Amino acid sequence: MRGTGRVIELLNEALEFELSAIAQHIVHAEMLHISGNGRHGLYITKQAIEEMLHARCLIGRILALKGLPQVDAPPAPRIGGSFLEQLENDLAADREAVNQYCSAAAICGRAGDTVSQALLENMVIKKEENADYLEAELSAHAAAGFESAAEQRIHSVPGPLQHDSASYQSASSVDRELQAAPRKRTV
Ligand SMILES: [Fe+2]
Repeated sequence: MRGTGRVIELLNEALEFELSAIAQHIVHAEMLHISGNGRHGLYITKQAIEEMLHARCLIGRILALKGLPQVDAPPAPRIGGSFLEQLENDLAADREAVNQYCSAAAICGRAGDTVSQALLENMVIKKEENADYLEAELSAHAAAGFESAAEQRIHSVPGPLQHDSASYQSASSVDRELQAAPRKRTV
């Protein structure tokens, strides 16, 4: 296939975004659990698992194209010191990734690699869904005041995520915990 070398480069760039996001999400999720913001922490844990699945798909595709997955030097994660910084950093990372994935998907399409194109386009959809969630969280906190919103969340969460291995086995297990968590904030 013409342009395979460039496609592999682009898939490796996407892989770097995913690997960095995994580390960023895991650290943020644990900070959130410790601070008592369990519901958002569960959501971010789910994101970390989803990024891992994306990374696995990218690695599989790179190997299928006879390339070498570059996993040794992803960009440093941007860890937020506060809940607001975490939201902003996660949103910024999502937006950067969407830009790269959209551009990469178009190039893959022009190269005739519709498999890589579809993989990247699916990842764009997931990133955009996550960005929508983060934007809604930022808007909610801007409206309510960041301190009072954080206070409300502390009282609305069901408790910290159980750190047993079963809780981390799959995204679906986190999904179930998210479904069980109360959706309305209590004042
Ligand atoms: Fe992802």
